[in-house]
This record gives sequence, structure tokens and C-alpha cells, in this order.
Amino acid sequence: MVGLGYVGLVTAVTLAKKGNEVTCYDIDAAKLDMVARGDSPISEKGLEEELKAVLAAGKLSIVRSLADAVNDSEVVFICVGTPSKPDGSIDLSGIISVAQELGETLRVSDEHRTVVVKSSVVPGTTDKRICPVLEESSGKKCGDGFGVCVNPEFLREGSALEDGLHPDRIVIGLMNSEEGVVMQGLYDSFDCPKVVVDTKTAEMIKYVSNALLATKISFANEIANICDKLGIDVDNVMGAVGLDSRLNPKFLRAGLGFGGSCFPKDVSALAAVGREVGYEPKLLDAVLKLNDWQPTRAIQILKEEVGTLSGKRITILGLAFKPGTDDMRGSRAIPIIASLLDEGAKVIGFDPLASDNARKLFPDIDYAASVSEALEGSDACIIQTDDVIFAELDIKEFKVLGSGLVIDGRRVLAHKRGELESLGIIYRGIGVPKRA
Ligand code: UGA
Repeated sequence: MVGLGYVGLVTAVTLAKKGNEVTCYDIDAAKLDMVARGDSPISEKGLEEELKAVLAAGKLSIVRSLADAVNDSEVVFICVGTPSKPDGSIDLSGIISVAQELGETLRVSDEHRTVVVKSSVVPGTTDKRICPVLEESSGKKCGDGFGVCVNPEFLREGSALEDGLHPDRIVIGLMNSEEGVVMQGLYDSFDCPKVVVDTKTAEMIKYVSNALLATKISFANEIANICDKLGIDVDNVMGAVGLDSRLNPKFLRAGLGFGGSCFPKDVSALAAVGREVGYEPKLLDAVLKLNDWQPTRAIQILKEEVGTLSGKRITILGLAFKPGTDDMRGSRAIPIIASLLDEGAKVIGFDPLASDNARKLFPDIDYAASVSEALEGSDACIIQTDDVIFAELDIKEFKVLGSGLVIDGRRVLAHKRGELESLGIIYRGIGVPKRA
């Protein structure tokens, strides 16, 4: 496993747990030290326990050079990041430098190895960008001396290990059938459909999966914004719409928009690919545009209820892009906090996991160690993640809010609206009808 980020580490532990011998390498020596000790560098349910277990069982080991990782292995997974560039396209510098070094290692080896591109790369990247580098640096032909295939990941943060062990499907993109045998063997014990296609189709499947999920969310948000104007509860609409057997109710939850390291980046990258090949991606652009706008809805509601925000103290409950992670990437808390600060408000944030990461982005706002501390002395609050701890709060806690306003950005307290209102609390949400 080359690259021990989110995908690499979870894939390594998953494959080790399935009984394979997994060797891990990363350029970050401190990360290797952590993993070797059994400490997970990322906060992910169950991962640290399973990492310790596979280390103890001798199924997972750490090596200090890429050559050692490759020499020990039949299959080499490339799991390095492909971050966004300002124009939305992806930065391939990390993956190209791994391919270069990997090729140099393959040059001096007689064994046939399968190189698996697990990093998300746009269609055509493996054939046109990665293979030529591997061929040039190894002095061998792709498919003869070494093989290459694409095997995208569909892990969700917060349930990555579970998703890794029980995937809905495994997609394998092949250049030749020899690699197909290796990959089918590797994934034999996984009880799910295996979809075997060519490399660029496999690359496309990854982006289209995320783009369609993001489109569902933006669609639900658009309908919520219209429902707001009409006094209709969007959940009642989407709940019924999702019962159509041609649709499904998942990812139709309206709210403050999608965040994370994947949806915003992958939709932008797919749109950039469209542009590159001469197609103006109207729908993908609209999905992103609405998502960028959606946090504004919370600020609008806030102003409607409390007037000017200058000097007001506003609590944000949930800072990460979703519950169960410390990941702030793409979090809707970022534009919300930035707007509040622009308006002259004071902000206090609470998150069970992400406060340290949030502090790196917003060092000058206040951070609370508990929900009650976050609400104390505040004028209003915005619930930014659908964390179960917010859903289970004792609603009397909200009575301390100066204006009594709770903006439920993820509908976590919808089931307690009546109770909240009986305490004099103003309950507002995205796509939640305002009381007359
Ligand atoms: C997403 C995909 O769900 C994974 O299948 C994929 O492998 C991963 O990206 C990736 O490409 O690596 P993840 O970023 O962990 O996984 O997050 P999700 O659970 O999908 O949620 C993304 C965002 O959408 C969150 O901000 C969440 O609050 C929001 N969301 C989700 C909604 O606003 N409404 C919904 O109905 C569902």
C-alpha cells in the first residue's frame, strides 16, 4: 500500500483483516511511526482497534522505502491524494512521482507485479498519464513485466471500515485479463457484485457515483428553498418522493449542503473534464453553485429573526463536514463562520472531534468543551451537523439563548419542534415551514 491517507490505511487494514499480508509505505515518516505503534492518524470508527489487531497478527507491516513495499508484494496499490487545482482539475504530481519511483523499482525486478490505481483520477489518467511514466521509468511494457488496473474506492468517512469490509460493489478497471485474475482472487471473499470494465470506465464510475449523490443533495436543497417560500415541509415531500421504487430516499436530506474531501472536489473535476473535452457541464456547475450558496440560507434566517448580526454571539454546533469525523475539509461550517465574522458577529463553536482542526482555520473564534458551554451567553445557534448528540440533547439547554433562536441546519431536532416551541424557543430550519 503506497500512501497511508484515508483510503490507503482503510484499504490496508481491510485487506489485512481478510488474511492478506499487507506492507505499508508513506513518504511521511511520522505517519509510519504512528501506524507502526498501532495509532491511527485519522479518527475513524473501529480503525485503531483493527489496526492493532492486524499488526499483532503480523498481517500488516510498515516499511521505510517504496522499494521495500514493492519488492515484498504481488499487488501494489497507489493510494496517494489527488487534490483540486484552482480550475477544478486534479493535481497529479503526487501520483506521477510515485509512478516514477515505482517504475524504477520494477526495472530491477524479474517478478510480475500488478499496479492498482486506487486514488481517484479522472477518466483516461491511468492510460495516458500513469502508464507512460511507469513504462518509461521501468523500461518495461505495461501488460508485459507488470500490469496495471484501476480499482476506485467508495468509502464514506465515519463508516469507512464497514464500507471497506462490506462494499455495495467492487469496480475493477482492466487493461488485460491477467490482472483480472489477480484482482478477482484478491477480492474473492468479498460478497458483493464485482464489476469488470476497462480502466477509463472504472475511473468514470467513481466520479459519476459521487456526482450523482451530490446532485441528489443539491436537488433536495433546491426543493427545500422553494418549499421555504411556499410553507411546505421538504421532508414530507422528499420522504414521499423517495418511496418511488425508481428512486430511493437516501441522499435526499436537505440542509446546509455537502462538504468533505470528495463531493466538492470530484464534481469540480468531472466538470473540468467536460470543459476539457469541449462540453459545458451545465448541471454539474449548477450542483456546485447551489451548494456554495446553501449556507447563505442559514445567515438569511438568522438575520430575519435577530436582525443585525454585529456584536451578536452565535453558536455553531458541529464544525466538521459531517458527524463522526474530525475532517473540516469542505465543511459548511467554514463559509458560515466566515460570513458571521464578516457581519461582525462573535462565534463560538463546538464539535466532539473537530475543534482542534477548526482552530487551525479559525484561531480567533471561541471553542467550547460542551454543548452547554457553547450555548451559554449566546444569542442564537446553528446546528451544522446531524450528530446524534444534538438530536438527543435535553432541549431545556436551548433556553439560555438570548434570542431563543435555533437554526436546525440538518433537521436533527425536527421531532422535538413542538417541545422546543412550548419552551418559547424559535425553531427554524432549511425547508421547515415557519410558524405563522
Ligand atoms: C462520499 C461518498 O458517500 C463515498 O461513497 C465516497 O467513497 C467518498 O465520498 C469518496 O469519494 O471518498 P464522504 O465524503 O465520507 O463520502 O461523505 P458522505 O457521507 O457521502 O457525506 C457528504 C456530505 O453530504 C456531508 O457533508 C453530508 O452532510 C452531506 N449530505 C449527505 C447531505 O447534505 N444530505 C444527504 O442526504 C446526505
